[in-house]
Order: sequence, then C-alpha cells, then structure tokens
Amino acid sequence: MEKILITGASGQIGSELTMALRKIYGNDNVYATDLKDAPADVMESGPFHKLDVIDNKALVDFTIQNKITQVYHLAALLSGTAEKKPLFAWDINMKGLLYMLELAKDTGLKKVFWPSSIAVFGPTTPKVNTPQLTVAEPSTVYGISKLAGERWCEYYFNRYEVDVRSIRYPGLISYKTEAGGGTTDYAVEIFYDAIKEKKYECFLKEDAKLPMMFMDDAINSTIKLMETDASKITIRSSYNLGGISFDPKEIAAEIKRHIPEFEITYKPDFRQKIAESWPQSIDDSVARKDWDCIYTYDLTKMTQLMLDEIRKKLVINN
Ligand code: NAD
Ligand code: SER
Repeated sequence: MEKILITGASGQIGSELTMALRKIYGNDNVYATDLKDAPADVMESGPFHKLDVIDNKALVDFTIQNKITQVYHLAALLSGTAEKKPLFAWDINMKGLLYMLELAKDTGLKKVFWPSSIAVFGPTTPKVNTPQLTVAEPSTVYGISKLAGERWCEYYFNRYEVDVRSIRYPGLISYKTEAGGGTTDYAVEIFYDAIKEKKYECFLKEDAKLPMMFMDDAINSTIKLMETDASKITIRSSYNLGGISFDPKEIAAEIKRHIPEFEITYKPDFRQKIAESWPQSIDDSVARKDWDCIYTYDLTKMTQLMLDEIRKKLVINN
C-alpha cells in the first residue's frame, strides 16, 4: 500500500496533483500538506495537514507516523518572489530539498519527485531547442537553487540509491489555483483579465517567448515519470520537458479570436530580465526516449479550455 506525502499541496501544481494522485491511490493514502489552506476539494477529499518543509523534526515525525512511502516535494518560492527575498528563498528551496533527501535515505522512501525548472538555464544557454545537457549558468536565485537541487538529487541517487526523479517544468498554465509568483504567471493572469476587463497589462515584452505547458499535460507527465520502471531512467538530475512555446503577442492574438475587443498593453518590470535569461524552446528528446512523455495541448486548445473554465469559475464565485 503506497502512502504519499505532497508538500506545497495548496499551490498551483500541488492542488491538481493531489486530486490526480488520490484518484489513483485512494483519497486516504495521499497526504496533502502546506503552510496555507488548500482549495476546498483538496481539504475535503482526504487528509490535509499544516507542515513546514524547513521544520525537519516535523517532517521526520510526520513521515514515520503516517508510514509514508513516496513524496512529491513541491514546496518552494518561485522566480519572481525569490528575487524579492533571495536568502529566504534559498533557505526554503534548498533546506526543504536537503531535508527531504536525507529523509528518503534514512527512512528508505521508495520514490521522491522534485520539480526543477527551465530556470536552471541562463543567458549563456542556447535559447532555441535547448538540449538536455548544455551550459547552465542561471542568473536568478531561483535558478541557482534549482540547479544546485538537481546536483543534489543526482548525488543522493549515485551515493545512496535514493530513487529521486525530476522534471524541468516549463511555465505551467492552469485555471484551478492562482499561479504563485513566477515569471510565467502572465500567461495565467491574462485569461482572467481578458474575461473580466477585456484588457491586460503585461509585465513582459510582446516578444518574450518562453516554453509553457498546460497543467493536465504536466500532471500526466509527472505521474508517467513516477510510474516508469527505474531501469529506464537515465537522468537523475532533471528531465527537459518541452510543451508549447509562445510570446505574449501570440497568446493575446489567440484570446482575441474569442474576445475580439480584448486589448493587451505592455509594461515590462524586473521579470522581463528573468524571461530574457531563459530558453525560448526546449529539446525533450531524452524524456521522450526514456519514458515517452506525451502532451496534447497546443495554444489553440489550451486557450479555448482556459476561457471556458475560467468563465464557469467566475460565474460560480459571483
Ligand atoms: P506555488 O507557489 O503555487 O505553490 C508552492 C506552495 O509551497 C505554496 O502553496 C506555498 O504555500 C508552499 N510553501 C512555501 N513555503 C513552504 C514551506 N516552508 N513549507 C511548506 N509549504 C511551503 O508553486 P507551484 O507553481 O505549485 O510550484 C510547485 C513546484 O514546482 C515548485 O518547486 C516550483 O519551483 C516548481 N515549478 C513550477 C513551475 C510553474 O510554472 N508553476 C515551473 C517550474 C517549476
Ligand atoms: N514558472 C516558473 C517561474 O516563472 C518557472 O519555474 O518561476
């Protein structure tokens, strides 16, 4: 019987991953944890606990008491928030991961999932079709913490045989939970403002092209990687995952096809510099070869679904 712990379960990814894992493993076997409350479906459908990932004793006690066998360690501060509080972000992102890897080693957890990001790449990385193995000199504290995290994951696998698996997620787009302080958040906010205000002021420039992915594809890929036989996993740092690449001008044009009066304006802030340091598109051929990652949403299909679902959500909440 698997007993799964999710940290950061109230966030953009965790709130959806929790529900997907509960469908597979049973509601009572998936423990959602975070510092803040989760959306109602997560809180009501199974166990939810307040747990701080940098409280090592609480983490160890929780894991032992609940006989946890697998962890999805999502708690972190994202790129935009991390630039505002660099040392605090380093503490949360690194201490949380190191405590988790130690816990996995000491308690014999079967598997750990930890997300990395396209933020491990930097201004000196080839920007188009960025390869799995390439120059990685990140210029943000978030990117530095993710790159260091990848090295630690590989180290714990090689030295202690901890079965840790990871994906370098692109920017993730979803309608269920708000995005949490990232540079790619504009691609979520734009849908809400398009529906509510018919206009959006973008914090990136019109040609800031970035790799993105719809949440369902990210969740399915994560579960697929975790279900893959360990012998097929050749990357123990983190797998590149491609998704779809677009810039603010392109997503605005797609939204305009549904809402003709929609207008976008641009007022780039500090996140523009972060975006400029990241790749525009990703080569994920290694993930395809090793575990056959699949995605089904392009910009057109994703835009339609985001608009439909956010409209429904706004009607229910008003
Ligand atoms: P999010 O900000 O929406 O959620 C993170 C959650 O972690 C929040 O609910 C927050 O309350 C929680 N948290 C923060 N500090 C904590 C602590 N000390 N103890 C316990 N919980 C704490 O972020 P997300 O988008 O869901 O991202 C989840 C993970 O995926 C992160 O590691 C992030 O770096 C990674 N990632 C996300 C994206 C993306 O586009 N969303 C892309 C690449 C990687
Ligand atoms: N979407 C994330 C961010 O912008 C990338 O990891 O921070």
